[in-house]
Amino acid sequence: MEWQKIFPEPEEARKRLHAGRPQLLLIGDQRVCLVLFENNLYALEDKCSHNGESLSKGTVNYLGEVSCPWHGYRFKLATGRETGERSRDLKTYLIKEDAQGVYLWI
Ligand code: FES
Repeated sequence: MEWQKIFPEPEEARKRLHAGRPQLLLIGDQRVCLVLFENNLYALEDKCSHNGESLSKGTVNYLGEVSCPWHGYRFKLATGRETGERSRDLKTYLIKEDAQGVYLWI
C-alpha cells in the first residue's frame, strides 16, 4: 500500500468530478468508485458485494449513500457499510489532500 496521487491539486478534483455522481478510477488492476459529495471526496471498492456490479454506474442519494444500479443495495460513502445488512460492507480507501495534490492510500 502507498499513497497514489490521483489529482494534481484539490481544485482540479472538484472541477473534474461531478458532485454526487460516482466516477470509476482505475489504478493498476484495481477499480475504485470515487465520489465527490458535499465537497468531500470518498473512495470505495467499485465491485458491489451483492453480485459484482460496478458501483460507479450507480447513484448517490442525499444521505451520502451510493446505490447499486442492479438491485439497489446502498452503501455508506464514509464507511462502506451496506445499509440493509444483506451483504458484506465495502472496503473504503483513505484520501488525503494538500496543496500539491489529492492522494489515495491503495
Ligand atoms: S449487484 Fe449490486 S445490488 Fe445486486
